[in-house]
Amino acid sequence: MPGEEHERDPKHLVAEGYDQVADAYAHLEREETWPRMRWLKQLLAVLPPGSSVLDLGCGSGDPADITLAEQHQVTGVDISQAQIIKARQNVPSGTFFHADLGAITFSPNSFDAVVSFYTLEHLPREEHATILGRIATWLRPGGYLLLGTEAAEHAGSVGTWLGVPMFFSSYDPATVQRLICEQGMTIQETAMELQTEQGQQITYLWVLAQKA
Ligand SMILES: C[S@@+](CC[C@H](N)C(=O)[O-])C[C@H]1O[C@@H](n2cnc3c(N)ncnc32)[C@H](O)[C@@H]1O
Repeated sequence: MPGEEHERDPKHLVAEGYDQVADAYAHLEREETWPRMRWLKQLLAVLPPGSSVLDLGCGSGDPADITLAEQHQVTGVDISQAQIIKARQNVPSGTFFHADLGAITFSPNSFDAVVSFYTLEHLPREEHATILGRIATWLRPGGYLLLGTEAAEHAGSVGTWLGVPMFFSSYDPATVQRLICEQGMTIQETAMELQTEQGQQITYLWVLAQKA
């Protein structure tokens, strides 16, 4: 039963799910362009060339890391082996770790920017504050967080997504914004944005924040 599966191991379920749907996901942004690259351009406008950028839940690296790698050093983390294989092919200059972003660690002050798109909602929300705290530690002073995530009151459940069981869990937008601020980051820009997936309109919270 999906509910029992999620209680057993949501991370395993997500990893297996993305191993199966990596190709389908790569073709999902078809109907209209998503806001992701518009937000990334805002970050690129303030990042000096040669910056080190961490992408949490990097997926295949297409399109964000391919663009980032034109001017910056990219490190990516993804729990799906299939996605990491694609990322290494798509972004040969990048460094990619097949790992749970909720468990991986980096040295303090390692990155000029951390980005994470459409991923935080795949981790149990009880982990979100800790992860945001770690991100703040990994960022250098003045470094940026660019986050795009589902933001709705949702304790956590398994649904069907692209034909496979998939785990989702999230907080409402105000809570996500508060958690970011509580970790010593200041929100520079934020918005709720609609995008189309499989004919459905989905809303995501976007936040560009800076570490003090
Ligand atoms: C919707 S995709 C987004 C991929 C990419 N960020 C993008 O913009 O297209 C979500 C990605 O997060 C990864 N992911 C989910 N949970 C993760 C976790 N705990 N640790 C690392 N990666 C995770 C999935 O494997 C998947 O590649």
